[in-house]
Formats: sequence, C-alpha cells, structure tokens
Amino acid sequence: MEDKKVNILISEDDIAKRITEIGNKISNDYKGKKLYVLSLLRGSFIFTADLVRKMSIDVKIGFMTTSSYGDKESSSGNVKVLSDIYDDIRGYNVLIVDDIVDTGITMKFVMEHLKKYNPESIKCCVLLDKPERRKVDIEPDYKCFTIPDVFVAGYGLNYGDYYRNIPYVFNWEKID
Ligand code: IMP
Ligand code: MG
Repeated sequence: MEDKKVNILISEDDIAKRITEIGNKISNDYKGKKLYVLSLLRGSFIFTADLVRKMSIDVKIGFMTTSSYGDKESSSGNVKVLSDIYDDIRGYNVLIVDDIVDTGITMKFVMEHLKKYNPESIKCCVLLDKPERRKVDIEPDYKCFTIPDVFVAGYGLNYGDYYRNIPYVFNWEKID
C-alpha cells in the first residue's frame, strides 16, 4: 500500500452482508429461468465469485474482457472487446456483473454488444454505482452500494493495476 492514509469506505463485513441480500434477490427473480452470469474482467472477478456462491439457483457463468482505464482515473469513452463471450447465449437471461458503473459507457456498450447474440434478456448487477459521474443513460438493475464521486480501489477494483486483492473498498485520504 502507498504511504498515504487509507480510508475504508465499505468494510468486508458490509460487502458480505449486502452480497447475501442481492444473491437472494437474484435467485428469487430468476427462479425457473435459464440464467447466464457474464462477469466482466478483470474488475468483477472477486465480486462475481462471492455473488454466485450466494445464489441458490442453477447458473451458467462466463467471462468477457473489455478495455479499461489502465492507469488513468477517467474513461476514454472508447470501449474495445479484448476477449469476447464464446458460449451460445440464445435462450438465456444474461446478467452482466461488473465492479462499478461510473460514466456508464462500458455497461451500455456491453449491453448493446450482447444484443446481437440474441439472449432472452439482458440485465446488469454491479457492486458500486457512482451516479454523479454518469455520461450515458443507464441505471443498474441490481447494485450493492452507491458511492460519491471518489476514485476507489480494493475488492477487485484496481489503481495502476494493483490493490484488487484488498478485501474492502477504500480510497486514500488527501494529505495537504
Ligand atoms: P465506466 O465505463 O466509466 O462506467 O467505467 C468502467 C470501468 O472503469 C469500471 O468497470 C472500472 O473497471 C473502472 N472504474 C471506474 N471507476 C473506478 C474507480 O473508482 N476505481 C477503479 N476503477 C474504476
Ligand atoms: Mg471494469
């Protein structure tokens, strides 16, 4: 960790409790339906792993990688598919899982992209929602927490490609 004071925004305990609630809700909502969870790499790998283990229904799980921020803190607005889904999702209800909806550009792009594979339905679930930064019209169907406009890391989210393994969501306090 960098030599700055860490501010824990969402604790491990709070994350676990909320994921249990959302996992139950998703299980109820998709009962009797064919569910395909699409995890967006790399940011959602930890969230997805915890979330699917709180689901009590059968679920198929796949992955897709889109271009991300890299070291920068703001979206380029230009999303690329680095690794596409390779399952046939026709007839499946797809639930896209990501770490955060920030500008919303990535999620909107992925939702549009998946339409051409003709799934039964497409919804999304995110750990974090940062509505103040939204640039496109998108509202997550399921979200665990809403956060203010601060850059965060931990629990899958990176800063300069590090800190994904930190088990809570944090930012650094500004020291003037
Ligand atoms: P969006 O396209 O601007 O909604 O954001 C897409 C991606 O940017 C997310 O999936 C994250 O990987 C990354 N991102 C956005 N905000 C943050 C943050 O506060 N910390 C770390 N990554 C972020
Ligand atoms: Mg991401």
